[in-house]
Amino acid sequence: MCGIVGYVGARECTEVLLDSLSKLEYRGYDSAGIAVFENGEIRTQKSKGKISDLIEKMDKEGRISGHCGIGHTRWATHGEPSDINSHPHGNANITIVHNGIIENYKKIKEFLEKKGYVFESQTDTETVAKLLDCFYEGNPLSTIQRVLDEIEGSYALGIMFKDYPNRIYAVRKDSPLIVASGENEAFIASDVPAVLKYTKNFYLLEQDEIAVLDNGRVEFYDDHGAPIRKEMHIADFDMEAAEKGGYAHFMLKEIHEQPTAVRTTVTPRISDGMPCLEECGMTYDRLKSYNNIFVVACGTAMHAGLVGKYVIEKIARIPVTVDVASEFRYRNPILCSEDLVILVSQSGETADTLEALRLAKRNGADTLSIVNVKGSSIARESDMVLYTHAGPEISVASTKAYMVQLSVFYLIAFALAYADGKISTEECKRLTSELQTVPEVIDKILEKPGDCQYVASQLVNSENLLYIGRGLDYALSMEGSLKLKEISYIHSESYAAGELKHGTISLVTSGMPVIAVATQRDLFDKTISNVKEVKARGAKVIMVTHENSDVDSDAADIVIGLPTIDDLLMPMTAVVPLQLIAYYTSVLRGNDVDKPRNLAKSVTVE
Ligand code: AGP
Ligand code: GLU
Repeated sequence: MCGIVGYVGARECTEVLLDSLSKLEYRGYDSAGIAVFENGEIRTQKSKGKISDLIEKMDKEGRISGHCGIGHTRWATHGEPSDINSHPHGNANITIVHNGIIENYKKIKEFLEKKGYVFESQTDTETVAKLLDCFYEGNPLSTIQRVLDEIEGSYALGIMFKDYPNRIYAVRKDSPLIVASGENEAFIASDVPAVLKYTKNFYLLEQDEIAVLDNGRVEFYDDHGAPIRKEMHIADFDMEAAEKGGYAHFMLKEIHEQPTAVRTTVTPRISDGMPCLEECGMTYDRLKSYNNIFVVACGTAMHAGLVGKYVIEKIARIPVTVDVASEFRYRNPILCSEDLVILVSQSGETADTLEALRLAKRNGADTLSIVNVKGSSIARESDMVLYTHAGPEISVASTKAYMVQLSVFYLIAFALAYADGKISTEECKRLTSELQTVPEVIDKILEKPGDCQYVASQLVNSENLLYIGRGLDYALSMEGSLKLKEISYIHSESYAAGELKHGTISLVTSGMPVIAVATQRDLFDKTISNVKEVKARGAKVIMVTHENSDVDSDAADIVIGLPTIDDLLMPMTAVVPLQLIAYYTSVLRGNDVDKPRNLAKSVTVE
């Protein structure tokens, strides 16, 4: 959520800041700003709206110029998006950018107001800027530490002191921030893609560690102010992987990257045809030691967990509870050391999922995370991590991350079922090899997007629709529905097909689209009965099913037929048309596909 960048070096800083900020646009934001040292003075330019609005304003006012500065894209939490609430905040002496939420800002504000400080904005951030000013006695490091002792909540901060031109201070807690270094230049950023154009070398800041970027050199201090050495990481993807590569949108590119992402995630975890998760310490013995499994995540990652639940319970017969992280945290879950809590997150920084992880650890459960971003907080703090190798996912609407999360759940389910004696070696090998065929099947589906484009043309003017399914199809339809609402802004709900008649069917009127997912052959006839119920009330039915399914012509208006693979694995292929339908509908409605309104890529606030 929001983006922070900073630069010290020989380049024109304003250009670098604007360029790096643009690489973070995918995270979602509503205003932008920069502060730059110009002739020894800190000068700030900021604006509500997009980076292009900021640039327009800067061009009118005259662009600031220099070699050291910080930049920010804000996703408002405290105070509306406005010029005045935009970051940077501060005064001519100390200026900051902040990502996160200062939970005790009211108390700090009262303290500062008593001292005569007058606040201009409605943000929590301004309290940090003024508290730094209040405590400052010439030593930035000790001032920052004093402020860190006072503030509660989450923060990534980039700070500039007028007394120290060409220097940036950076610190973080529960909000991401990396420090990158090139030749005689250094950067801070919320995420690696922001600086990839300049360098691949970066450091991960730990909680409350302070980085000082001084004339291109980088120094680190621990939370007591003692200098420390940190390990440098090298980004394993390049700009091309983070750019659109000829596709109209990142989302479409990422949908097309799914076959490769599945291969890269699955192949290294197969040994002699069997799933092998030992890289993270998850041996067969350890796997079978758990009595209960909890999957905790948000949004699309949680939907991947729902599919995981159906698959694990079906073949491994171990109870799995799936929780939305923000609920799990506050429902006082019953956990013990025989439980495994699986945290799923593309970004690895989602605040609720991170806190759920900490809660699980405090309660003595084993924790395993399924995470896409290397070195992210959730990955670092969990006992075991299985990385999904999807590469950077830029589009806010998650597609390839969901796909690889599913792949990992299948590997876990197969390994668990085998470890517990629920399936034979042969069956485990058969399922594992079937999983390896999924990329080819997805490729085939992607070759023919025509049906999905046609469905989109039928949905474009709808304001409401339903997704229905049973079992795994129900779990999948939740993701289909979320995808559509996120980017098309059409209201949709997913319903267990058999539950519809207990209330929701009253919404079905003539011409209302209903997308029925029916890939589970043992439930097919049951789903068809439910489809007929909506059809009888005038619904326009779009059915996603096996290509050889026997669908009566009076049951569905449009049938999207998928190549047949094992029913258990069908969610991995059936999700593709659902993603494409959402994508093309959004395009037809003229929406900003990759940056849908009100949404942020990485939700680092609770
Ligand atoms: C996906 O399309 C959404 N934008 C959102 O639901 C997302 O999956 C959720 O915020 C979780 O993010 P994470 O995977 O980075 O933890
Ligand atoms: N809480 C701060 C604000 O509302 C920072 C928000 C952000 O992370 O962008 O200004």
